[in-house]
Amino acid sequence: MCLVSLKLYILTVLCCFFSLTNMTTYVGENVTLPCQVPDNYKPFTGLECRRSPQNLKLVFVFRNKRFNQHDQDPSYKNRVDLQDKEMKDGNVSLILMNLTMEDNGEYECRVFQGTKNELICSIILEVHPPGEFVFRNSIHSVLNVC
Ligand SMILES: *[C@@H]1O[C@H](CO)[C@@H](O)[C@H](O)[C@H]1NC(C)=O
Ligand SMILES: *[C@@H]1O[C@H](CO)[C@@H](O)[C@H](O)[C@H]1NC(C)=O
Ligand SMILES: *[C@@H]1O[C@H](CO)[C@@H](O)[C@H](O)[C@H]1NC(C)=O
Repeated sequence: MCLVSLKLYILTVLCCFFSLTNMTTYVGENVTLPCQVPDNYKPFTGLECRRSPQNLKLVFVFRNKRFNQHDQDPSYKNRVDLQDKEMKDGNVSLILMNLTMEDNGEYECRVFQGTKNELICSIILEVHPPGEFVFRNSIHSVLNVC
C-alpha cells in the first residue's frame, strides 16, 4: 500500500495522464486490464505491457504497427488479446485469458511515440483459487493532472 501511494505520488508529479486499477478475480477466468492512450500520444507507434516491478516479462508488445509475438513471454502466448483490435480512440485495454495463480501481481503499460514513451496504466491483479470466497472489487482511478 505504501509503495502504491509513493508510486502514485511520483506519477502525479511526472505524468499528465495515468490510470491505476485494482482487480480481484479467480483462476480460470478472463479479465480485462483497462488502459487508455492519452491524447498527446496519438497516434502512437508502440505499446508494451509488462509484469512489474520485479518481474519484467513482456505480456503484450505492439511495435512498428504490428503485434510482436516473438518477444512476448511464452507464458502469455495466446492468452492476451486487445479488447478492441483496432485500438480505436486509443483504447488499448487488454484481455488476459485463462488466469492462473502465477498471473497474480502488477502489470504496467507504456506507450511509445517516436523516441518518447510514457507509463500510462498500472493494474494490480489479485487472482484467487477457484471457490475461495473473496470480496470482489475493481477500483479504477484515472488521474489527469494537466
Ligand atoms: C475467455 O475467453 C475465451 C475467448 O474469448 C472464451 O473462449 C472463454 O470461454 C472465456 N472464459 C471464461 C471463463 O469466460
Ligand atoms: C475500451 O473498449 C471496451 C470495449 O471495446 C470498453 O468496454 C471500454 O469501456 C473501453 N474503455 C474506454 C476507456 O473507452
Ligand atoms: C487453461 O489453463 C489450464 C491450466 O493451465 C489448461 O489446462 C487449460 O487447457 C487452459 N484452457 C484454455 C481454454 O486455454
